[in-house]
Amino acid sequence: MKKTGVFLVLMGVFSVAWADDISAWKLPAVPVPKDNPQNAAKVELGHQLLFDNRLSKNDSMNCASCHLPATGGAGPTPRAFGHGGELGRWAPSWVNSAYYTSLFWDGRAASLEEQTGALPGHMGPISAPGEMGGDVDAIVARLNAIPGYKAEFKKAFGEEVTAQNIAKAIASYERTLDATASPFQRYVNGDAKAISPAAKRGFKIFQGKGKCNFCHTPPLMTDNGFHNIGVPQVGPLKEDLGRYEVTKDPADKGKFKTPSLYNSSSFAFLMHDGAFSSLREVIDHYNQGGNPKDANQDVLITKLDLSEKEKSDLIAFLKTLTDERINRIAPPKLP
Ligand code: HEC
Ligand code: HEC
Repeated sequence: MKKTGVFLVLMGVFSVAWADDISAWKLPAVPVPKDNPQNAAKVELGHQLLFDNRLSKNDSMNCASCHLPATGGAGPTPRAFGHGGELGRWAPSWVNSAYYTSLFWDGRAASLEEQTGALPGHMGPISAPGEMGGDVDAIVARLNAIPGYKAEFKKAFGEEVTAQNIAKAIASYERTLDATASPFQRYVNGDAKAISPAAKRGFKIFQGKGKCNFCHTPPLMTDNGFHNIGVPQVGPLKEDLGRYEVTKDPADKGKFKTPSLYNSSSFAFLMHDGAFSSLREVIDHYNQGGNPKDANQDVLITKLDLSEKEKSDLIAFLKTLTDERINRIAPPKLP
């Protein structure tokens, strides 16, 4: 008992020191791969491609159909709908996706370029039959036949449309979708009035009693890791094994990538399968200790005993993570 007491006191001192060092939460500059440097022409092109139905089978949908700006760039339905009907997972937001070291809920893609599904040998939304169902070769030929696109690719890459350049342009645009203008980031950057007293209390709970920062770590609010937090399995997949599908390690069953919580107060649904539809439901899930019946649940998920006021404060904090620019992305004029 004594040892535990000393440990808890130390933990307390440590977390107070942590809570005061808000600069630890400053979002860094977005990492950019050497072979795809940012330029304005690429970014503009990526914006267009994101909203262009011509990248899909029968010109039926585009990236923003499933990553709806009005719901924070995340899915408007609990599970996404593509050419294969209802998919097993909810579409996470593309906000801050440039900071993730792997993409998708199970981390199966290594870069934003790879994630698009335009690169040969990589399945992703453009090429997946169940999603946009596009034929990449046909898309390349088609875009090359559109004078506006041909000229824009030339400006952005110095060459014509290729599968690689489609992937690169989309990734370049996504690298601009950071949440650095959120009230919380303004607060971190020194504007003490950017967030309310309730949100400041919530931020303390986030790093203290709530233990949220154990996985939603500074500076990105994600450890880029995978955890099983006992989310109810809903939707067409009877059991989604998550990270296990990539590693085949039984310890990874039911683990999903820790999301950066930015813009989550704008999402219509939350979690890999859209099991929850409000931050209140999420907090209640954590507060009850997740799902203790799930043998693989992370040991960090335990009952929290948060009061109603503490829950509201935590929600007030989470709301300060929303960068309104992400919610207002408008469809561009297409060539
Ligand atoms: C049919 C709906 C649908 C369309 C269309 C779609 N997505 Fe997604 N997107 C999803 C779903 C569902 C996931 C999660 C899938 C998974 O984890 O297995 C996802 C995941 C992602 C991720 C990973 C985010 C993260 O946190 O790891 C990015 C980035 C992304 N999509 C970008 C795009 C881009 C770019 C396009 C267009 C080229 C696109 N999406 C088209 C449904 C869609
Ligand atoms: C053990 C690691 C861990 C801890 C501790 C943790 N989270 Fe999470 N969080 C995750 C993972 C992993 C997911 C995604 C799980 C899934 O989809 O099945 C998630 C999802 C979420 C989401 C949904 C976001 C989205 O895009 O769907 C919110 C909101 C959230 N967490 C807030 C919190 C808060 C608030 C706390 C503290 C009370 C907390 N988390 C504690 C790992 C953790």
